[in-house]
Formats: sequence, C-alpha cells, structure tokens
Amino acid sequence: MKIGILNSGGDCPGLNAVIHGVVGAAHQLGWEVIGFRDGFEGLLPPGDYCVLQPQDTIDILKLGGTILGSSNKGHFAAKVGKGDIAEVSAEIVAKAKRTIDQLGINALIVVGGDGSLTTGLQLYREGWPIVGVPKTIDNDLGATAMTFGFNSAVETVVDGLDRLHTTAESHKRVMVLEVMGRHAGWIALWGGIAGGANVILLPEIPFDLNKVAQFIKQRDAQGCHSTLVVVAEGASMPNGEIVTHDANCGGEVRLGGIGEQVANSLSKLTGKETRACTLGHLQRGGAPTALDRILGVRFGVMAVKLAEQGQFGRMVSYQSYHVGSVSIEEAVHQLRLVEPDGELAQAARAIGIYFGE
Ligand code: F6P
Repeated sequence: MKIGILNSGGDCPGLNAVIHGVVGAAHQLGWEVIGFRDGFEGLLPPGDYCVLQPQDTIDILKLGGTILGSSNKGHFAAKVGKGDIAEVSAEIVAKAKRTIDQLGINALIVVGGDGSLTTGLQLYREGWPIVGVPKTIDNDLGATAMTFGFNSAVETVVDGLDRLHTTAESHKRVMVLEVMGRHAGWIALWGGIAGGANVILLPEIPFDLNKVAQFIKQRDAQGCHSTLVVVAEGASMPNGEIVTHDANCGGEVRLGGIGEQVANSLSKLTGKETRACTLGHLQRGGAPTALDRILGVRFGVMAVKLAEQGQFGRMVSYQSYHVGSVSIEEAVHQLRLVEPDGELAQAARAIGIYFGE
C-alpha cells in the first residue's frame, strides 16, 4: 500500500509534526509514504515527490515550515475570497490523476485549510481517495475545536505584546499590534487576553474608533498612560473597509495595513503618540509549541488510521480532547468565528478589555 501526503495553503508550525506522525504510523503498517512537493502542484506531470522513510522524518518534529513545501496559489487554488469557490479545471485534475495512478497511490492525505480542503472535496467527489487534515493558524475551521499552528501563533502574539508593553509604558504611548486572522479573530482574542491587551478589535465585532479613543482618554485620566491595542488583519474599519495590500499575487486578496490606519486615527482622536507594529509572518514561522507538535502527530496518526479503514472524504477533527473525524463536506461548510457574546468574549470584557462596541 502507498500513501501520498501533501501540504497545501499557507504554512504553519506543526506541519512537519503531521508528516512525522503519518510516516511513523504508515511504517508500522508496512506502507510506503510518498511526499508531494509544493502542495497539489507536486502532482502535476512529471510529478515532484520523494519517498519518506522514518529516518528522514525523525528530526523534523521540532522544525517550523514544512519539508515538503506548500503553495496557496497556482493551478489548484479553490477559494478566491470569502465564499467564492473556483473549481479546479478538468484538465488539471486529469493530469494530476495520472501521477496518482502511475505511482499506485491508495490514499492521498491533504493537509490544508478551508481552501485546500475544498479542493480535496472536489477531488474526492471525482473519485479520489482523499483524507483531510485541518491546518490553519487562524483556527477558523468549523468542524474542529483546534488546529495545530494556532497555539504557536498565539505564543508569538503574547511575546510581541510583552515586548510592546514595556516600551509603551516608557513612552506613555498607544501601541497598536496587527495580527493575522483573515475571517476570524481567534489569534487576536487569545493573544490579546494572554498578552494583557487593553483593546481588541475583531472581524466579528464592529468597532467605533471614537469610542476606543474615549476609552484611552479615560485610562489616561485614571493614570494609565499607555494602552495596548490588538487588531486582527481581517477586521473592517468603521466605514466597512477591509484593508488590503495593493498587489494581489493570485489566490485570495492580501490583507494587511489596518494596524497603521487604526493607529493614525487613534493618534488624531486622542492626541497621544501612537505607533503601529505588524507581526505578519512571524506568526507563521519558527518552531511549533509542544501542544502543536502533539496535535500534529496525533492528526497524522489519525489520518493514516482513516486511510487504513478506507474512510475517504473524511477530515481529522479535534473535539472535546479527542481526535476523531468528520466529513470534509461538513468541515468546509462553515467557518468557526468568535461569538461576540460567547464565554471567551465575556471573560475578556469582565477583566476590562474593550472591543470598541
Ligand atoms: O489563512 C492563513 C493566513 O495566515 C492569514 O491569516 C493571512 O491573511 C494569510 O494566510 C497570509 O497569506 P500569505 O502567506 O499568502 O501572505
């Protein structure tokens, strides 16, 4: 038996842990593992792949990125924006299928987020033996309580806020930290609470910058002369604008820049010195945390189990401390967003964090 594995979409810490888990579990069954390079692109003729042996993957657990490479654009990009789905062309699917058939792949493990799993679903519907593994630092897939990479990203945000805190206090400034989070504000919310932010601005909760400025002035009046603001890149400005980079290099639009805009407005509205800082891809790089390593390994082992049982069209999922599976269809159906009045948001409010409502 042969298992294929590919990583698709934006990378995140923990991808190598999944590969480690897959190769280890498959080896126990006496199965061969083929790793395709640069996502689905590696399936295109003549095929860009390597045979993965346990000795090749033993030291990769602690490494960020992915030894296989990944791609979030190209011939297989399934989502071009929120809700907009682009089918992969029949010609490309047929070409890629030839590689699968020639290599005699019995199961293909697709490690990806919402967009890549949508491509996986299309291929499954066309008869491919697909098993999905959820991956996104944004942690916004509906059918799993957590994805690996998220915890590592949150740690980076917390480290950033700890550093901004001291310089903000020294200069009595407002510091605005822009973090990732395309549709969902989980990174901003978790990172903001754990890093001691005073204001958190999310895609899920519309905010008013006049009210945020008022909040900052009140803090000043109470003797708190510095304020930490965390804003998710996918939050909308009060006029409804989503802030993006000009260049769209294929695939989904590139978000970024809301931190600067929020900082400029707050500076004008409060009269306080304000600085913006964007964490960007620092959140996606570096070594995975222990939690993400364990989650990645468990996801990889479960993916092999699903392949062994012939449970294709299923995606590994984490619910109530248990790794199981759901149909990929269910998984890509709905994004998991922050509930504005959910327990976590209420806990943040209870400790004085302001959402700018
Ligand atoms: O979806 C994951 C994500 O990290 C988003 O939070 C971010 O907008 C995007 O990927 C960045 O992608 P790229 O690597 O293409 O800049």
